[in-house]
Amino acid sequence: MCNFKFKDLFKAIMEQIDLPDNAVIADLGCRDAGFLAEFVKAFPEKIKSAVGVDVNDKCFRKVKYKKPIELKVMDCSKKLDFDDNTFDFVFTKDMFECISDKDFLVGEIHRILKPGGAVICVNCDWDSVAYNGENKELISKAVHAYAVTKQPWMDDLDSWIGRRMYGFFNKSKLFKSTVSVHNVVETEYTEDSFGYDLSKDIAWLYKENTGALIEKEYAEFIANLNSAYKNGSYIFTKPYYIYKGIKK
Ligand SMILES: C[S@@+](CC[C@H](N)C(=O)[O-])C[C@H]1O[C@@H](n2cnc3c(N)ncnc32)[C@H](O)[C@@H]1O
Repeated sequence: MCNFKFKDLFKAIMEQIDLPDNAVIADLGCRDAGFLAEFVKAFPEKIKSAVGVDVNDKCFRKVKYKKPIELKVMDCSKKLDFDDNTFDFVFTKDMFECISDKDFLVGEIHRILKPGGAVICVNCDWDSVAYNGENKELISKAVHAYAVTKQPWMDDLDSWIGRRMYGFFNKSKLFKSTVSVHNVVETEYTEDSFGYDLSKDIAWLYKENTGALIEKEYAEFIANLNSAYKNGSYIFTKPYYIYKGIKK
């Protein structure tokens, strides 16, 4: 994986993947296609073609991919530019919350999957992310504000997307559904950990003047995390819901 942080989550996802020979797979909202590249690495003999799509090619330019990987710019909130019954496996991670008409995308994923094909949809439940630190009210405020504040590149935002995914797919009655949760648990507040990176991302709230968190509150939030880490009480958890659906 391009980022070792995802190693355990990737393992949990891999346990659910069962590809046929000559599999045709897709990653919707792939960004730099890091996951797609790992799938190809894990199943070198099985994957015939792997298509990554994203609404923009910002991250495509950062990496070089070769066959069987192909990257395309596509807006997943619209009819997908793929034929019916194309894919054996569709993967999508942390993209669904950006789409306003989720039922439409569920229908599109069903359409592009072959009969018996599988979708795995992985979403963090942002409102369930937890840090330990002394100022409970402020830490909860910072995490919640980040979870519910829409960023410019998002069409939509649902901070409960993790827990909601099962329902979006299952109520369609188009899939045989199962769901599991992989919890990231960290006790180190160090560079490149999920908790560290998220705490830095939260600065966006005051830097962009969203009104959701002011600079003084952000500084106190970071001070709380640093002091928890120093005194040995730091903990960060982040639940990823892993939905798996088999096309009926
Ligand atoms: C949080 S990132 C997740 C990237 C990648 N799936 C991962 O987990 O590492 C969300 C990605 O979804 C893409 N995205 C957002 N809205 C989209 C849309 N309507 N169609 C396609 N991609 C979209 C963004 O450009 C971004 O690359």
